Amino acid sequence: MTIYDKIGKTLQQLGISDAQGVESLFAELRKAAEQERAELVSRGAPNQPQRERLCKALRDRWLARKGGFLSQVDENWLKPSSRDLKPAVGRQFNELRRFAAGLEFEKLVEALPLQQEPSQQEELPLGSVAARPAPRDLTLPGLRRPLGSIHPVTRMQREIEDIFLRLGFWIESGPEIESTYYNFDALNIPETHPSRDDWDTLYIDSKTVLRTHTSPVQIRAMEKYGAPLYIIIPGKCYRHDNPDSTHSPMFHQIEGLAIDKDITFADLKGTLDFFAKMLFGEKVRTRFQPSFFPFTEPSGEVAVSCFVCDGQGCRVCKESGWIELMGCGMVHPQVLRNGGIDPDKYCGWAFGLGVDRFAMVKHDIHDIQLFFQGDVRFLEQF
Ligand code: DAH
Repeated sequence: MTIYDKIGKTLQQLGISDAQGVESLFAELRKAAEQERAELVSRGAPNQPQRERLCKALRDRWLARKGGFLSQVDENWLKPSSRDLKPAVGRQFNELRRFAAGLEFEKLVEALPLQQEPSQQEELPLGSVAARPAPRDLTLPGLRRPLGSIHPVTRMQREIEDIFLRLGFWIESGPEIESTYYNFDALNIPETHPSRDDWDTLYIDSKTVLRTHTSPVQIRAMEKYGAPLYIIIPGKCYRHDNPDSTHSPMFHQIEGLAIDKDITFADLKGTLDFFAKMLFGEKVRTRFQPSFFPFTEPSGEVAVSCFVCDGQGCRVCKESGWIELMGCGMVHPQVLRNGGIDPDKYCGWAFGLGVDRFAMVKHDIHDIQLFFQGDVRFLEQF
């Protein structure tokens, strides 16, 4: 006799007269419930409506108020049980109810895997043709997946890289977590030198910083490759700055470095003028003004005539006619020496520029924060 047959009989008819018998009878029933659930989950369902139907059928089979297995147990086992057995049967019945609740027949719908392909041989009961999954409508439009695009800062970085790659430079990179030696000392910025304050540095410990510029990679590359050397170094830099429309604690720079025999300031001017014309258009002019950086001597600031108003003064150049581009200079002999290169044989020039600023100028964007907030409404315009 199966457990399902037993549900239709009373305990007396089944010859059960002690608590132990009751217990094993209920255990058998719990096992059956568990098995039915497992079987359904392992079979899955061909589609969503079918899934809901199968789950509801299983739930009703066990829990329906009228005729469900639990209510039959109540009717046939519990109610007519003898005085002696009633407490045991009651306890087991409650246990069974808790057990059935734990199987979550109601929530099974979500757990039930949907079969990918509705099987053609699936045996449906007669008269249920309507339950067969509808054939797919191949004329419906497909799902449109929104395509991403290159981030404006990355795009600007690549444009700049491309110009220098054409000139025979190659791309080098270095660590963002950097020693104070490479970030400062080797670049001719000794510990006590006031210019260290120019870089609002984020320290990790007394000898480790988040690099404040890409210049430390100059030294690393000199050590690694020696001279001659023609590289650009794009990368993230960090400074202890409060975020506002022109400052971000994380930003991007590109460093340029050319080291060879007989390199002069004229090479620096010529290269950067060519670069500015490639990026902003043939008609722009460049302007070099003296400046100071500890790692270059002499040092300069490069500006380009405004590519929007051609130097007349407008919103982009803040009415000045010029746009500041970068710092540059001839590599300081001590910096060459620190990189293991003999300054009597080789010399060179270097520059450093802010990629985010370039992208802001190019696209007339007034808040650097927009680049880093990940707002799709902003990013999808590029
Ligand atoms: N490292 C400088 C900064 O972050 C920028 C710079 C200026 C880099 C002049 C250079 C250079 O290589 O020659 O402010």
